[in-house]
Amino acid sequence: MNKKAILQICSTCNSAAVKQNPERLATECPEGEKLLTAIEAAISSDAAMHGKLLVQPARCMSGCQRSCVAALMADGKYQFVLGELDSSAERVDDLLSFAKSYLQADDGLPQWRDRPEHIRKNTIARLHPLPSQISNEN
Ligand code: FES
Repeated sequence: MNKKAILQICSTCNSAAVKQNPERLATECPEGEKLLTAIEAAISSDAAMHGKLLVQPARCMSGCQRSCVAALMADGKYQFVLGELDSSAERVDDLLSFAKSYLQADDGLPQWRDRPEHIRKNTIARLHPLPSQISNEN
């Protein structure tokens, strides 16, 4: 792994079931917050990821129809916006597996076959790296 990356997770995302139930919406911890906690716990028990993946909470990323939403980014690399995530062990494994492949890819584009199926099917956007002129001027 040659670079560090940032994983932003929308901490305000909720599941469709919770969104449709005002009582649950008012009382339950958002699914995005649960995902954030689960990812942080998984990283803390994975020595290969220590110091490599910085997890940040974010508020709404305008992907509410595809919640939970997360974004993976690193300087000089493609950026991914991912949806249909949740705090289950399967989705946490998918997200961390993809983050590891992302870290290993110099340009941030893991081979298609190296991307978990759920990630392949639920990539909302892939953004090109910022032009170096922009990132160097600031
Ligand atoms: S609340 Fe998470 S994307 Fe809108």
